[in-house]
Amino acid sequence: KHIILIGAPVDCGKRNQGCRMGPDAYRVAGLAQAATALGYEVSDLGNLNPEIVEVQPHRNPAVHSLAETVGWTKTLATTAQAAAREGVPVFLGGDHALAAGSVSGMAAHAKSQDRPLFVLWLDAHSDFHTPDTTESGNLHGTPVGYFTGREGFDGFPPLEATVDPANICMIGLRSVDPPEREALSKTDATLVDMRTIDEEGIVAPLRTFLERVEAENGLLHVSLDVDFLDPAVAPAVGTTVPGGATFREAHLVLELVHDSGLLSSLDLVELNPFLDERGRTASLMVDLTASLLGKRIFDRPTRPFSGN
Ligand code: ARG
Ligand code: MN
Ligand code: MN
Ligand code: MN
Repeated sequence: KHIILIGAPVDCGKRNQGCRMGPDAYRVAGLAQAATALGYEVSDLGNLNPEIVEVQPHRNPAVHSLAETVGWTKTLATTAQAAAREGVPVFLGGDHALAAGSVSGMAAHAKSQDRPLFVLWLDAHSDFHTPDTTESGNLHGTPVGYFTGREGFDGFPPLEATVDPANICMIGLRSVDPPEREALSKTDATLVDMRTIDEEGIVAPLRTFLERVEAENGLLHVSLDVDFLDPAVAPAVGTTVPGGATFREAHLVLELVHDSGLLSSLDLVELNPFLDERGRTASLMVDLTASLLGKRIFDRPTRPFSGN
């Protein structure tokens, strides 16, 4: 039970700045202390820096900060693989561009163990653009495109292992651009939008996914974007979309992942402390992480996860 905190102050995935302050906001909000209180050994690798790289400008002139994003992808993929051998890496973002590195690194780690990587993507957005399809030019909208092996990521490191879209479950979707929707429709990714949550609840699709991870002996990476949550409870994010997950839905998702015993790695992304209100969003993200690490109100009778 070893939690490895990795500061990833990535702020190049969009134009509005502030996510670089995320790692320290999580530290101030007591993330390490929360994990220690739950019985984990905790290490903090401090804040990383991106590799310095040179890349050709992308053919899509909207794309910005390509070299910095590529540099972060290299640094984080390498760090993810090393950390995953020692414990559970927790990437303290930083914007969602960091998942190009964290997830591709975890995919390489999973491959080295001959196991598949599954990704639980908790986000209002699918982030399935490529540098060719993005209109905003913001590369935080592209990490899923990258680690699933889509074309157009010129300059990025070649993938040691791709993530099969069939092994991805996205929950909380409510802002998907037309080219993303088109490309997603050609995959077997599980797409749980807000309507599905309203009609079926958030538990059923999650359980189905976790049962598959277990049955296929997979590693599970969780990528938690602040905008998964409703802006009323989590205002500190640049890309607010109304109608997000409630406080209780979010805790429940993370409690169920804990109880599955499947967690291998975690991203905490898109927190912009510059937009926060007295630290409430940072504190909520820490509390949600505590639920993911086993914090509970009462102990519950344990039962085999998939046996019901
Ligand atoms: N789809 C939009 C774009 O490509 C928004 C992406 C938001 N991504 C995020 N990680 N918050 O610009
Ligand atoms: Mn995102
Ligand atoms: Mn998002
Ligand atoms: Mn877009």
